[in-house]
Amino acid sequence: MVVKALSKHVPISQARRTEYATFEVTPISPHIGAEIRGVDLSRPLSDAQLQDIRQAWADWMVLAFRDQHLDREAHKAFSRHFGRLHVHPMHHGRPGQDPEILTVRTTAQSAYTAGESWHTDVSCDEIPPLGSLLYITETPECGGGDTLFADMYMAFEMLSPPMQAFLQGLTAVHDGAMPYVGNYKSTPPEGGYPRHEHPVVTRHPVTGRKVLYVNSGFTTHIVGLQRWESRSLLDMIFALLQREPKLHCRVRWEPNTLTMWDNRCTQHQAVWDYYPFSRYGERVSVVGDAPPSA
Ligand code: SIN
Repeated sequence: MVVKALSKHVPISQARRTEYATFEVTPISPHIGAEIRGVDLSRPLSDAQLQDIRQAWADWMVLAFRDQHLDREAHKAFSRHFGRLHVHPMHHGRPGQDPEILTVRTTAQSAYTAGESWHTDVSCDEIPPLGSLLYITETPECGGGDTLFADMYMAFEMLSPPMQAFLQGLTAVHDGAMPYVGNYKSTPPEGGYPRHEHPVVTRHPVTGRKVLYVNSGFTTHIVGLQRWESRSLLDMIFALLQREPKLHCRVRWEPNTLTMWDNRCTQHQAVWDYYPFSRYGERVSVVGDAPPSA
């Protein structure tokens, strides 16, 4: 019997559009990430511009808009086009701050930088943010401070058919205490941080494509397996992200760049390679109507 080897390649599965009527798009990688020029997010957007942004977001998952000049209200107004604004579970520990703005500030005095390991934003929520919009205004003088993004459609498609079949139908627990207490040492709110179960393989509500939806930031275990089975499977998936640069794109920030990413099909990791220099930005996240589903 001849056993056919599985291909290590995942074909770029959709025609990647680079022509949009209302702005210019330059891909950052062949399948994830694109830079957008020619749209001013501080001004009211036309229906055609918004339609193109939604289409480009579905096509590229991560959009970096250069040369934007936004105050907080403009940042929030643009974000509201995509969903209601999210309040971060750690907000209780930041009295006096705008609940809809998450400050991302790293200096020589910081104990940590937010999002330094691969994760999907706040996947511990029952309805996690569908997208996040980070506006960086200060980049480190020494360079660096990029953000890596991973294409979780491709991560699913890289698995063998038997492994895909096994993971579909399973659910996993995502626990906010893991990063917020474990890594950031914050005090939980009354009742604790959110903890919810989501399918291990989800279907993106806009594109209909399947996504590998577990992340090392929040996912503690797969339900119904022995703990050691769950640990091995999760470690195998997390190792795939670490090992495969072809899953990634890298956003190199310039001051006044707004990058929006789709948490339903990507993961990201902030690179803190600029100590003792500083980096500053503000993030708004948006929530949809329904929890992730298979
Ligand atoms: C985050 O939202 O996880 C932070 C990303 C970054 O600072 O690049």
